[in-house]
Formats: sequence, C-alpha cells, structure tokens
Amino acid sequence: MAIKFHESTKEFHLYNEQISYIIRVLENGQLGHVYYGKHITDKEDFGYLIEYARRDMAPYPFEGNSTFSLEHLKQEYPTFGSGDTRYPAFELEREDGSRTVDFKYKKHEIFKGKKDIEGLPAVYVESEEEADTLEIVLEDKLIHTQILLSYTIFKDIPVITKHVRFSCEHSEGITLLNCMSGCLDLPDKEYEMVELAGTWSRERHPHTRELNYGVQSVYSMRGCSSHQFNPFLMLKRKNADEFSGEVLGFSLVYSGDFLAQVEVDNFDVTRVVLGIHPNEFRWELKQGESFQTPEMVMVYSENGMNGMSQVYHELYRTRLARGTWRDKERPILINNWEATYFDFNEEKILDIAKKAKDIGVELFVLDDGWFGKRNWDNCSLGDWYPNLEKLPNGITGLAKKIEEMGMKFGLWFEPEMTNKDSDLYREHPDWLLADTRRQYCHSRNQYVLDFSKKEVVDHIHAQMRAILKDAPVSYVKWDMNRAFSEVFSNGNGRSWQGKVRHKYILGVYDLYERLTGEFPEILFESCASGGARFDPGMLYYAPQAWTSDNTDAIDRIKIQYGTSYVYPISSIGSHVSAAPNHQVFRDTPLETRANVAFFGTFGYELDITKLPEDEIEKMQEQISFMKEHRKLIQQGVFTRLESPFEGNNSAWQVASEKKDEVLMAYFRLLEPAQGKFERIYLKGLEETAKYSVQECFGAHMDCGVHYGDELMYAGLSVSDCSAGIPMLAREQQGDYFSRLFYLKKVEE
Ligand code: DGJ
Repeated sequence: MAIKFHESTKEFHLYNEQISYIIRVLENGQLGHVYYGKHITDKEDFGYLIEYARRDMAPYPFEGNSTFSLEHLKQEYPTFGSGDTRYPAFELEREDGSRTVDFKYKKHEIFKGKKDIEGLPAVYVESEEEADTLEIVLEDKLIHTQILLSYTIFKDIPVITKHVRFSCEHSEGITLLNCMSGCLDLPDKEYEMVELAGTWSRERHPHTRELNYGVQSVYSMRGCSSHQFNPFLMLKRKNADEFSGEVLGFSLVYSGDFLAQVEVDNFDVTRVVLGIHPNEFRWELKQGESFQTPEMVMVYSENGMNGMSQVYHELYRTRLARGTWRDKERPILINNWEATYFDFNEEKILDIAKKAKDIGVELFVLDDGWFGKRNWDNCSLGDWYPNLEKLPNGITGLAKKIEEMGMKFGLWFEPEMTNKDSDLYREHPDWLLADTRRQYCHSRNQYVLDFSKKEVVDHIHAQMRAILKDAPVSYVKWDMNRAFSEVFSNGNGRSWQGKVRHKYILGVYDLYERLTGEFPEILFESCASGGARFDPGMLYYAPQAWTSDNTDAIDRIKIQYGTSYVYPISSIGSHVSAAPNHQVFRDTPLETRANVAFFGTFGYELDITKLPEDEIEKMQEQISFMKEHRKLIQQGVFTRLESPFEGNNSAWQVASEKKDEVLMAYFRLLEPAQGKFERIYLKGLEETAKYSVQECFGAHMDCGVHYGDELMYAGLSVSDCSAGIPMLAREQQGDYFSRLFYLKKVEE
C-alpha cells in the first residue's frame, strides 16, 4: 500500500495490491480525477488519461485555449459556475450573493494511519500500518476559504474513504449550500445502478436499473436514513453478477438526510456524488469556523456483488463497529413486544423470562410500555421513569429479578421523541422540532424532539443515565418511530434553521457517544420503526440494528438478503416470531422461522408461555444450535448463493475464514408439484479438501463426505431424495420449506 506524489506531474497515486486511485492537479490548479479501479502499476505520468475536448458551446477558462473545459474534464471535487454545468459536489455563497469560486491546490500531506472525525462516526484503524491517508488542501484566495479533501486507502482491502472539511477565514464569512462527502467521475456509463429500496416492513430490497443520460438518485429527506432508501448505491458492469465482474460500492457513514446521485452527461461520463442532502441545508460559516462532512466509503470489487459485500462486512464489523461487543458473540434474546405489546405487568414479564431462561435464552428485553403512563402509543415518550402500576418494583427491581434468574436484562428507549401527553412536553412545549405556530403533523401520535438543542440532549441524557446507572441493564434498544415533517427549531434564529437537520443528527451521535462511553458494557441495538436507520453511522455506536418490524420469515429472507449487500450478519437483528405472523399473517414452520433468524443476531419475539411443549423443545434445540454456531455465523464470510428475488428458491452460506466450516441455508417458497431437482453450488471451499455434510435438525441427516470441488462445481443436491440425502418425510415438506446444512472439513 502506498500513496505517491509525483512532483513533476503533480499526480497523486493511491494504491494497494488490488486498487488504484489517481488524482492530478490540472492546469488551472483545480483537481482532476484520473482513474479509479483495479490496481495499475505506478508511474510518473498518467496525463494522457486527462481527456480534453473541443466542443461547440463549451466554456473555456483560458483565452486562446479551446480544449480545456471543466464541462468535459473529470474532476475530483467539482463546483458549479466555472464552466461545469453538471450537478456539483459543492456550492457556496458569499455575502454579496456570488456563488463563483476557484479552489486551487495549495498543499498536501501524506501520513500513515487515519484520523478520527470529531463528532461524526467514521471507519477507523487500529494500527498505523492498516492504512495511509492523503490530505489535499485547496484554497480560494479571494474568499480566504480552504477545502481539505481527505482520502484513506486501506492496506489489504479494496477500500478508499473520503471526506471533506471547509474552513473559512473570510471576515464576511460564507454560506455552504451543498457539500457532498465525495465525487467520482467515471469515463463511461456502461453500468447498472443498484439501490436498496422499500418502505416500512419491506426494507432494503435491491433494485437494478441501467444508467441513462441525466440524473438518477436515491435520497432521504425524512430526517433519518429511512425505510425508503439506504445511504448506499452500487454501480456494476452489465455482465457482473453475485460472483464475478466489476462492482463499485458507495456507502455513506451517516444517519440523516442524504443524497446518493449518479449523473450521466451527454458524452457518457458518469458522475457519482454522495453526501448530506442539500435540500434545506444551508450552513453559514463565520471567520474561523469550519464544516466537516460525513465519510463516504468506496469499495471496489472484481468478484461481483458478493465480493463487494464481503469487503463491507469485514470493514464495518471490525473497523466501524466499536466497543466491548464488537467481536463478541451476540446474546440470544427474547423480546416481549410481539408477545404483549403494551399489555403487561411484572408477573407476565417474569413468566416469559423464566420460561425463556429454562430453554437457554440469555437476555430478556423489555420493549415499549414500561415508562410514564404508557399503555398505548399516545403518551409518555420523554418521561423515562418506570410505570409503577405495571412494574411495582421499578426497572431496577425487575432487572434484578431477571438477573437473579441467571439472565441479562435489556431495555427499550425512544430518546428522540415525545407525546403531547407527557410531562416533558407540558414543561417544554418549545422543544418540539416543529413550527408550532401552524398546523404540524404527528406520526404515531408522537413528535420529534429538537436534538439540535444541547439542553434537550442533556435532559434526555440525564434521564437515561439515571435508569442505566441504577438498574443492571446489559442491553439498550434505541428506537425512533417517525420521520420529520415541519422542521423548525423554536427560538433559534434564521441561520440555525439551515443547520438544524444535520445538528439533530450530531445531537443523536452526541447522546450515543456519551452513553456508550459511560456504559461500555451495554450492548446497544439501534432501531427506527424497524429498519429506517439501518446505516453505517448507527453501526459505529450500536453494533447491531433491528432490521425490520416485519418478522415474517419469508419476507425476512428478502429483507436480510438485501441488507447483506452492505451490512454484516452480526449487525442484522433477527427474531423468531409467532405463527401466524403479526405483520403478514403467514403461517411458516418454526424450523424455517429459525433457519432465517439464525443468520443474524438471533432471538425470539413471541409469547413463549403460550406455546405447546413440542415447540418449546424445538426452540431449545435451536438455541443450542445457535450457541454452537453463532461465532461462525456472525464472524464468518457470508455469501449470497441464490436470490429470493429471482424465483421460488433462495440460498446463502457462511464459511469460516479457514474454510473448514460452512453453514448453508436453502429456502423454498412454495412446494412445486412434481418439482425439478435442485442443487446448490457452494462457494469458497478448499477444492481438494473433504467435507462431511450434515443436515441440521430433524433427523440430523448424514449427507455423506464430499470434496470441496464437487460441492462447488457439481453442487449439493437439496432435492427430496438423492443418493446422498435420504427421502424427506411428507410432513417435512410443503410451502415455506427450508433446509440447513453444516459442512465440516474432515481429515480422511
Ligand atoms: C418499533 C420497533 O421497531 C418495534 O420493534 C417496537 O420496539 C416498537 N417500535 C415499540 O413501539
């Protein structure tokens, strides 16, 4: 890994064994983009890759030169209004209204390692040897403003991170209207764009479209990264699939409003920008002030989409997630939400906990409804003290009883919200993030608290801290159940209003930072009406996230499959819930519900006190299985094998890094009449090694010993009956059927 600066050509080459990224100072002093892709050998001059053009109507900055036009040059961090008429990476305004700028290369620094970004989540290194960083300073002398472009390249993985800082020294100040975290100009448009899209209970389904002229984008203006889109997009070559071909991933480490946009100009140049959504963003910088963007993480893969995902998984699991729980196997939990909703008391909770403890569950999570007078969703958010009618011994008393049973105790909060029927609102009506002089929307009967105000964060912090200090709480589920609407910070002036959406997220990060610092042993799980804030920003504070409020196993196959495009299995909150399912009313076998939930953090969310004994026995078996295999599942290499979006079947696997253990799950949606024979082609095994194959659960069928190459190229038959796999009993078949196979390398 290296970052080279070639003085004579003013070129920067960031490279490791897998990728190269080349930047060059252009004739006008601005930064041109030369190359990003598979590693190429370093040399002094890649100038021939800067393509100039003489085009009718193009603007040319140098008199007498009709080829140098920013409209046609690939740039590193372009703006608008200096000849480039495409969408810019940034825009700013001076006091007199001028938006024209000219940021020229001033200096640079190359150093080992990677710096943290103050106040914002970011990927980190544990030793200076893991990455090198390049910081380039651009300056516009007329407005005494500098832009610092920061690039980090990692040693053994095809990853480049980027972020930007604006610093103003002009006495009149400047106003940032838009500042993306990064931009990438690519020389052609022969890509498909893949995004993760959905809505509540149908999050992160991958969608693919061919790039076309003009702008195509995904975004959020909801105040959170959203159910609708994820702060991520992928560009893949048309021939790329899950296993091969060139794929570029772009992911933003941010939890608020974002824009991920691809523009194709009329000369087939593709421009990707990713950053805070410019709508409603207006950041005034006074003399001496600076603004820091979130970080963008780019992954290059020549091994298809799985190749890209595996890099994100490893990076986000080990160098974005932090703290005590980062590398630990996650506790198997039971959550009372779908068991009781708001209708519980201490006795009911203890019954559930006791029954769960008996079969091996490790953590009991008390969800919504334990505080204030909360018996429904119309009151008490913001009043974080126990409801003594429901819980006469308070949270501390209940938590102690659960601990005495030998289980850990977890607790739900929704720190960023309030209801009008709450002490908090009655005392502080001006803390709503809303223009309260006119009609403003509720959502689920609740209102967003103005986390751009430090006193609001302080108040919530004090309440949460008091509970967490007093009670033995080992886990916190941090929920957030509505989108923003009429955003206005009451009592703050005009200039605050353009900052408020970003300041809100900084407030959320601040509260997370305080609590994770004060309670390092607590496992935090983020949540936002299920999966509305499943993003890299959250992962920095909470190493796992509630993936979706939809707990139906069949729908979860798609949701977890899409989520795995970017996010590690260790972050995917997954529970077995009741049948029929509460969201889609589907009746799915308990085996399949568990086979899906195993590929995540795993837990239960049902009224265990009402289940028949045979189901309790199966659950006990599932829990022992998960305890035995969760290290492999949560820390192994996950590969998508067959897409649930393409047919009746789907499959995925997780393999140990040493390739000596694999767990493969096969799911079949509907039972076909006289179905065809099915094989699953495993991946990433040692070709000449022998693997014993066992079907988990049921009869624990011995499916023989096979070579790695057979299992990968000839495939493992998962049909009803084959020479290796005995006939399945009738009751084992039917709709929503699944099979789980455990492969272990054997000597002979
Ligand atoms: C939404 C979450 O996603 C659910 O799991 C549950 O915690 C409810 N909120 C509680 O209000």
